[in-house]
This record gives sequence, C-alpha cells and structure tokens, in this order.
Amino acid sequence: MDYKRYIAQHIKAEGVSEEELEGLIAVPPDTSMGDYALPCFKLAKVLRKSPALIAENIAAEYPADGVVSEAKALNGYVNFRIARAGLAEDVLSTILKEGEKYGSSEMGEGKTICIDYSSVNIAKPFHIGHLSTTVIGGALYRIFKFLGYHTVGINHLGDYGTQFGKLISAYKHWGNREEVQKGGIHAINDLYVRFNNEATEEMEAEAREYFRLIESGDKEANELFDWFKELTLAYVKGIYEKLHVTFDSYAGERFYTDKMAPVVEELKEKGLLKESNGAQIVDLEPYGMPPCLILRSDGASLYATRDLAAAIYRKNTYDFYKCLYVVAYQQNLHFKQVFKVLELMGKEWAKDLVHVAYGMVSLEDGAMSTRKGKVVWLEDVLNRCVEKAYSVIDEKNPSLENKQEIAEKVGVGAVIFSALYNNKIKDIVFSYDKALNFDGETSVYVQYTCARASSVLAKAAEGGYEAAIPENYTPCDQEFELVKALADFPETVKAAAERYEPSFVARWCVDTAQKFNKFYFDCKILQEEETRSFRLALTKATLSALTAGLTLLGIGVPEKM
Ligand code: ARG
Repeated sequence: MDYKRYIAQHIKAEGVSEEELEGLIAVPPDTSMGDYALPCFKLAKVLRKSPALIAENIAAEYPADGVVSEAKALNGYVNFRIARAGLAEDVLSTILKEGEKYGSSEMGEGKTICIDYSSVNIAKPFHIGHLSTTVIGGALYRIFKFLGYHTVGINHLGDYGTQFGKLISAYKHWGNREEVQKGGIHAINDLYVRFNNEATEEMEAEAREYFRLIESGDKEANELFDWFKELTLAYVKGIYEKLHVTFDSYAGERFYTDKMAPVVEELKEKGLLKESNGAQIVDLEPYGMPPCLILRSDGASLYATRDLAAAIYRKNTYDFYKCLYVVAYQQNLHFKQVFKVLELMGKEWAKDLVHVAYGMVSLEDGAMSTRKGKVVWLEDVLNRCVEKAYSVIDEKNPSLENKQEIAEKVGVGAVIFSALYNNKIKDIVFSYDKALNFDGETSVYVQYTCARASSVLAKAAEGGYEAAIPENYTPCDQEFELVKALADFPETVKAAAERYEPSFVARWCVDTAQKFNKFYFDCKILQEEETRSFRLALTKATLSALTAGLTLLGIGVPEKM
C-alpha cells in the first residue's frame, strides 16, 4: 500500500493538488509522534492562513479509518498514524504467502531491457576496476527480471584493436604453448606487459602486420587470437560464477566488424559525415562537444564506431525498451557523443539509451595503480576476503560446520556489497576490515541477522511453535517499525530500478536488519504465549524479505554463521 498517496487522497485542502500533498508527506525521523507527517509551511501562502491553523483544519477534517487511524496537528504539522493491526496483517500475510518472491511484480511484462555490463577486455587483467560494472550490472539485471522485464545481459568484450597484434608478436618471440595454456590470462598478460616494456621498433612493425593479418582473416593469426580469447573467457567465467552474474550475449567489439560499413554509409547519406585532417567525423560543436571520430585517416574504425553499430544492432535484434550501459564515469563524454550521433541520425529510440555511470573503487593501501603490470586483480581481492572471512568465522564460532562454504558467501558477499552500498556515482575505498565488520553497515551484518532469524525459527520448530497472524494483533513499537520496513520493500525495489540504484536495496537490507535486531533484543520472541505466534510470523517474513533483498544483490544467505 502506498500510504503517502492514500493519505493525500483523503486530505481536504481546497486549492492544493493531491500530487502536491503527496510530495510533501514524509516519514519523520522520530516516529514517536506519527508514522507520516505533513508539514503545512509551504501551504501557508496558497491557503493564506498560518501553518498551525492549516494543520488543525486538516487534522479535524481527516476521516480516520482502518488504514490511517489518527491525524493530529502539532506546531504546523499534521501527524498521521497507520492502523497497526491492519498493516501488520496485510504485510505479513503477503510475505508469508509469497516468500522470497515478495516485492516481485509484472510491471515490466512485454518490455526488454538490455544491460551492457562488465564488458571486459580480452588478454587484459580483470581487475578491481571491473568490480562495480560487474556487480551493479548484475544487480540491475536481477532487479529488472524480478519486476517482470525481459533482460538481456551483454558482455561487450574488448576484443578489437592493435594490442592483439602486439600480443601475437610477443608470443612468437617469448611465448611457449604449454606455458600459456597453463598460465592462462596471467601468462598472456605477462607477454603483453613485456611487449610494452621491451618491444623493439621491428617488433612494433611486426605487431602492426599481425593486427592486419587478424583483420584480413589470416588463419594462423586468427587461431592465436581465438585461443587468447578462449583463455580469457574461461578465466572470467570463473569469476562470474563466484559473483553470481550471467550474460545472454558475449557479442564484443569484433562482432561488429561487418556491421560498421552500413552505419558509415548511413551517416554519409544523412549528411552527417565530415572530413577533418583526413579522418571522418561527426561535428558535435553545436552541442558543445568535441567531434565524434568515426574513421581514422587510414580508414580504421574506432571504439565509438563500434558502439554506434552495436546500439543499432541491439535495437534491431531485441527491440529494447531501454538499453543500459554500466560503465565508469570516465566514459561520460563517449556515451554523450554516441547517443547524440544516433539522435542526429534520426533514431527516435536514442532517448532510451542510458549511461549508468559509477565511481571508482580503490583499495585502502592505494594499490589501484594501473602502471604497467601493477594492477590489483579482482580474483585476489575475492580470495583474500574469503580467507579473512574464514578466520573471523572460525574465531567466532569454531564448531560451525561447512565453514569454508560459509566463508565463501560472507567473503564474496562483502566485496559485492561494498560496491553496492553507496550511491553508485561515489568513489569508494575498499577496506577488508570494514567490509567484514559484523556490527557495521555491511552484508556480513545482514547475513548474520538472517542466520539469527533462521536459528530462532529452528528453535521454534523444535518446540512445536508455529508462526501465525492473530486477528487484531496490535504490534508494539519495535514490531511495528519492522513491519513498516518490510512494507517498504516492494517500493524500494521499484525505485532501485527506476533510478538504476541497487544501493537502495542494499540500504534497505541494512536498515531492516537493524530493525529486526532491535525487535530481537527488546521483544523475547519465543517467551510469551500471547505474542509468540505473531513474533514468529514477523521473524519468518523478515528472513524471506532479507533473503530476497540479498539475492537481488547477488549475495548468498548462510543458514548458520
Ligand atoms: N571494454 C570497455 C572498457 O573496459 C568497456 C565497454 C563498455 N561498453 C560499451 N558498449 N562501450 O573500458
């Protein structure tokens, strides 16, 4: 139930629209006065009365019912109370029925969302800088699916460019088949780094020739390239499995090789292409942007050319409702240019392309240097966090079974969560200790809360106690705060989708876990008979909703911790 709307619809205030009232109604920081409040200060001008008087009039005329039980004026505010029994019954019965599907919907039915995320580069390290795109994209993928959209996850591989010529040259000089096969991406990357450090003029020339050979379909050059690609993909797929992300398409930049010429042709036909120092560009000066480079003077295509072809291909193939690009803010200009060029081409769907930009992730010790060969591999961060999680768990609960499995969920979850907890545009500094703090605003805290709820439910089962929602049960303050948090979940998921902000779900998880813990400590769940069944229902519902929330983020939920 959308209470703000409900209240706004029932307020009598002539000359003020329902929408305006709805926009003013807020959840007060201290809910002891009421669950929602309408500040009347902004209405004073229109209604030509003092805020205090307006509040009194509105409160006096408000029709209390089984949904909103009370409206009271105080110092220019109207404070509303939700009918506790009704809301609790409504929310808990819904969750107990829907379980972990609570909050899902069919609002997206018939609509397709393409999500371009992770988009790693072949033969280059999968480093900590790829964390956010991978987990934000993965979370959006699941969130949209949860809301009934058809989602297409696309890994727009960076598999095009002169670096592959360099790699072949390096391999020919220094490489060895067995070693590279065994060493996989690390061995390939070492070769590439060595080329950048040691290549001679001749090797540079050779590399250009190898690149040309790949382009012209030479068998040997392409076999090597395919092999490097295969080794890279085998590696990254292992990481994707750990992070619970999946893709429906791995069509990378190379896929568009034969799809660029028609785009260039169309640009030319529409009079958008201009020559500049031998290169072909689209002039974007009227829009306050540097030109978008389409073809270099040697006729070679660019990153933007491939993105133009990719956008058109995706529209033709998937007929998307929205196409999202989860890419760091460093590429803001690139996407602005690409979207503008498509708009100038008359693609009315250019408005449906969204650059979902996010900030940088660095490590506490500042080790995010991208200088040659000095990068932090995401795999190492995940492994280290799992190791640390293991030792924390081992210390807290040495007799726990399946410690390794739990440490995986906790450690990997902590890395994922740290990239999802803040507003996505913020730069973040990752700290193992902070991410694994049981009492912080962390996934570990939420997971621990879930384990606590599971253990209460297991104890209840042993005692033969059942969860139920008694009629007309009026929740106490702690119970009611938790009920309200649970009631907020469906709206939170929708808002996360609308604003492309998985952090809304992450924050909801922490907030709800905090409210559960307050309830857990203040109200003895199993102790008293009159309250036991309701409290068990509340515990069960909380566990379902928190599990749904963490699952949307790609984080596992251990039963015990
Ligand atoms: N591979 C690129 C990089 O690492 C990201 C690609 C993003 N997607 C796109 N369609 N341009 O910077």
